[in-house]
Amino acid sequence: MNPLSDISYIEIQTEDPVQMFSQILEAFENSKPNKTMPSPINIATFDDEFGALNRTVNYRGLTVDKHITIVTQKDSRKYANIMKDPRVTVTFYLEIPNTKGQIAQWQIRLFGKAIELSPGEISNLWNEETVFAKIRSRICDCGKPIEYLKLKETHDTILKAYENGEDSLPQTELFTAFKVVPSIWDFYKSDPNCIGDRIQYRKDESDSTKWIKMHVAA
Ligand SMILES: Cc1cc2nc3c(=O)[nH]c(=O)nc-3n(C[C@H](O)[C@H](O)[C@H](O)COP(=O)(O)O)c2cc1C
Repeated sequence: MNPLSDISYIEIQTEDPVQMFSQILEAFENSKPNKTMPSPINIATFDDEFGALNRTVNYRGLTVDKHITIVTQKDSRKYANIMKDPRVTVTFYLEIPNTKGQIAQWQIRLFGKAIELSPGEISNLWNEETVFAKIRSRICDCGKPIEYLKLKETHDTILKAYENGEDSLPQTELFTAFKVVPSIWDFYKSDPNCIGDRIQYRKDESDSTKWIKMHVAA
């Protein structure tokens, strides 16, 4: 590679974008063996007031049918947005060492629709929630003004009851989860001083079980 300028190259190793995604995520996770926090991602929705509205959420793995999962609250703006118009864009940004040991920047975007998961799937995700997330789900009225000290006192009371075994932190009515069903997966890789390469997988309109894949310009 010329150190002044070159073009990154993504090798297409699979017909299946989910497999491609999983391979990239695995490379990322292997490069960060002590990583304890999940990778935050970004999800954009349509909002009547703001137009496009995006925010950070945690990536919660793949559903059994291999779709990206996120969890949220039914009183959040994103929930209302998705209920009105399920079209969303999800973006991952990952830094992964390339074969030369340099840091390559990866962006993975999915254009698709968010579909609420079944009660059983939502319940399984609740069971994996951290203690703080379970308490938040019960006490936070998403986006509304708060009196900090009052909220802290409520939090501490619930936490103490949990620690004493008096409160099992049952699933709240507001907790929910979505999968993102994409029509396009867009993978972008940029090595240092390189123009990026992109691979797009687009749903084959004549056969929804297939993907058409191509390099596209950065
Ligand atoms: C690192 C990080 C992770 C987050 N994870 C989630 C999440 O998994 N689900 C969620 O609803 N909000 C999450 N949030 C909060 C959202 O970014 C957002 O502020 C909140 O959900 C309200 O968004 P909305 O009103 O646009 O729906 C996270 C924020 C940060 C900074």
